[in-house]
Amino acid sequence: MKATKYLYLAAIALPVVLSSCRGQISEKPPVHPIMDMDQQERFEPQERNAFFADNRAMRQPVEGTVARGNLKKDTVYYQGINTDSSFVADAPVKLTKSFLYRGKDRYEVFCTPCHGLAGDGQGIIMANNYGYVPAPSFHIDRLREVNDGYLYSVIANGIRNMPSYAQQIPVRDRWAIVSYVRALQQSQNATEDNVQQYDVDLSSLQEEYKQQQAVAEKQAASQQDAGGEVSAERGKTVAAENACNACHSTDGAKMVGPTWQNLFGSERTLDDGSTVTADEEYLRESIVNPSAKIAEGFPPSMVPYDHLSDSDINSLIEYIKSLSENAE
Ligand code: HEC
Ligand code: HEC
Repeated sequence: MKATKYLYLAAIALPVVLSSCRGQISEKPPVHPIMDMDQQERFEPQERNAFFADNRAMRQPVEGTVARGNLKKDTVYYQGINTDSSFVADAPVKLTKSFLYRGKDRYEVFCTPCHGLAGDGQGIIMANNYGYVPAPSFHIDRLREVNDGYLYSVIANGIRNMPSYAQQIPVRDRWAIVSYVRALQQSQNATEDNVQQYDVDLSSLQEEYKQQQAVAEKQAASQQDAGGEVSAERGKTVAAENACNACHSTDGAKMVGPTWQNLFGSERTLDDGSTVTADEEYLRESIVNPSAKIAEGFPPSMVPYDHLSDSDINSLIEYIKSLSENAE
C-alpha cells in the first residue's frame, strides 16, 4: 500500500523537476525568494549621475592621494635621477653575484631579441632583417660612458624608437639589468692583461676568431652586389626594408633624424659648428659610419649600416638625391 503512494508522488514530481531543466537558456533572472541584499541600486562604471556638478558617478580621489605602497619619493631608486635631475652615476643597489645573475636572466628575457646575447645589437630581430629600427651596440664609447641612471631611464621610459619596459620589468629588476649591461660592457672591452688573470687559452680563442672573421668576410663578399643594379627606386625599397623611415622623413618633417627632403647638395652644420656640403661622399659616410659627422641638433643615435652591399648604398644615395631640388 505504502509503496504505491510513493510511486504516485514520484510520478507527479518527476515532470515538474524535468520541466525546469529543459536545456534552454533563459534571459529571465532566476527566482530569488530571499534577496539578502544581493541586488541593490548602484551606478555602473562611467555612468552619469546628475547629483554631482560634473555629472560623473565615478568620483576623483582627493587631490594628492597616493595609493598605499606607491609613494615613490626616492627618485634615485625609482627614477635613477638625483634631486637636481641629473642621472645617478652608480646603481643604488648592492651588487651581489645572485643579483647580477638575476640581471642576466631578465636581460636575456627582455633585451636579447633586439640587443643580442652579447649586447652587440645583433639580436634575432635585427639579424633576420624584419625591418625593425636597429638597436645600437652597448659597446660603443658613448654608451660605455653614460651613467647607470641613464641606462635605468632607457629601460623605464624607453628612448626614441625603443619602447618603455616599465610595465614588464619591476624597479629592482631594472637595476639588475643595468648592472648586467655594465658587466657585458666590461666583458667586451677586456684587455689581454685582464684576460690573462683567468685560465683561458688566449691564442686558441684568437685563432677561432680569425677563422670566424674569414668566414664572415667570404659571406659578405658573396653578398656584395647581389643584383648589382643601382636606382633610386631600389633605394626606396632598401630604405623601407631597413626602416630608415622610422627616423627620416621625406617631406621635410623633423623626426629622430634629419629629413631627406632637399638634403642632397645642402649645406649641413655639424655638432662641432663646422659645415659640410651633403654630397655623395657625405651621404655614403653618413650611412656606413654615421658617428663620423653628427648633424647639429640631432642625437648620435644612428647605427652604422656598413653591412649593406655597395649597390644597396648607392641606391640609397640615388634615392636621397631624387628627393632634392639640388640634384643636378
Ligand atoms: C624591440 C626591440 C628592443 C628591445 C626588446 C630592447 N631595445 Fe633597447 N633599443 C632598441 C632600439 C631600436 C634602440 C635605438 C632607438 C633609437 O635610437 O631610436 C634601442 C636603444 C637602447 C639603448 C641606447 C640608448 C641611446 O642612448 O642611444 C639602450 C641603453 C637600450 N636600448 C637598452 C635596452 C635594454 C636594457 C633592454 C631590455 C630591458 C632593451 N634595450 C630592449 C630596441 C630594443
Ligand atoms: C634610429 C634612427 C635612425 C635610423 C633608423 C636611420 N637613421 Fe640616419 N640619422 C639618424 C640621426 C639621428 C641622424 C643625425 C645624426 C648624425 O648625423 O649621425 C642621421 C643622419 C643621417 C644622414 C645624414 C643627414 C644629415 O642631415 O646630415 C643620412 C644620409 C642618413 N642618416 C641616412 C640613413 C639611411 C640611409 C638609413 C637607413 C639605411 C638611416 N639613416 C637610418 C637616425 C637614424
